[in-house]
Amino acid sequence: MAINKYSVKVTPTAKSRVDSVDFSNIPFGKVISDHMFVADYDGKQWVNPRIEPFGAIEMTPANLALHYGQSIFEGMKATKFNGVPHLFRPEMHARRLNISAERMCMPTFPEDLFVQALEMLVELDSEWIPEIEGNSLYIRPVMFATDEYFGVHASEKYKLVIFTGPVGPYYAKPVSLWVEEVYTRAAQGGAGEAKCAGNYGPALLPAQRAKMAGYDQVMWMDAVEKKYVQEVGTMNLFFYMDGKIVTPATTGTILRGITRDTLTTLLKDWGYTVEDRLLSIAEIADAHGRGALHDCFGAGTAAVISHVSSITWRERRMELPPVDEQHREVSFRLKNHINRLRAGLESDEKYRWLHSCANSGVMELAGAQEMAG
Ligand code: COI
Repeated sequence: MAINKYSVKVTPTAKSRVDSVDFSNIPFGKVISDHMFVADYDGKQWVNPRIEPFGAIEMTPANLALHYGQSIFEGMKATKFNGVPHLFRPEMHARRLNISAERMCMPTFPEDLFVQALEMLVELDSEWIPEIEGNSLYIRPVMFATDEYFGVHASEKYKLVIFTGPVGPYYAKPVSLWVEEVYTRAAQGGAGEAKCAGNYGPALLPAQRAKMAGYDQVMWMDAVEKKYVQEVGTMNLFFYMDGKIVTPATTGTILRGITRDTLTTLLKDWGYTVEDRLLSIAEIADAHGRGALHDCFGAGTAAVISHVSSITWRERRMELPPVDEQHREVSFRLKNHINRLRAGLESDEKYRWLHSCANSGVMELAGAQEMAG
């Protein structure tokens, strides 16, 4: 049994909704599992950690988070094999949540309680984990201010909620990109490195405009010179060019992706040269012109890897090689490896990224509650 340090109250749902889900067709973000984890910050410490049926939370319209954006989140995934639910690098997400919290003047959350909460929640809702390769249980932790106060200040009280939902692939097909030179995602000194709500809302209009112009997503450029590549949509970017892998350096404006870290680690293991550096759009166009741009893909928790079919920079449309294993050897190898790892089909000996959720103690607590009820 996992040694769980914190006492978490568990109130199981009276009736699971899992039988109503068509696991062969799950749109990303639409289906939510039975339970959620909730904890409150009372101004001094985190209190009342609990697991209860997923449902609405009462909220005042004067909630600070709604007005001034003190809201951060994480995105991660669980899979199941041999009947055992597994998380992927949960401690990295715990760390990153706290980095975002610090940037947004919010309290940090005990990282061991975060991991314990994930173990318990995912074990309790393990029936919701799809067992189709490439599908998974998406986990959404979100922390937000709860003070009823409309003056501009840091809230004293907060909530952390973690809920989950089964998901299929994020993007069904390769994406065409528009190089965005009008709108920017983040500037030096801003909050681009934090996973905060404020980084996502302003990205919706440029994404919508790109869609209307016939592209799937935008490629963000640096905010000063509009010269250096940053991210794609909500993902980190990788290029395979001139026989090397290049990913834009995280110099303060780019999210430090956990998938980005996983891919970089694997690529180095496999003997690829990985350059983590400033990369200009002109350099990409030059490589494309010479026939040396072999692959480009987005990397994030939701999609894992999203292949790019074309990049349009001003009037120039750069078509990339066909999206198949033969032409996109690197990204296919990475995607297959991660999906297989998550499905328990690859050895996890070297890095131990998988984290078992068996025996979290939640089943006993849920059973005791049911009997008491
Ligand atoms: C991810 O790629 O994991 C993301 O951040 C997308 C998410 C906001 C749905």
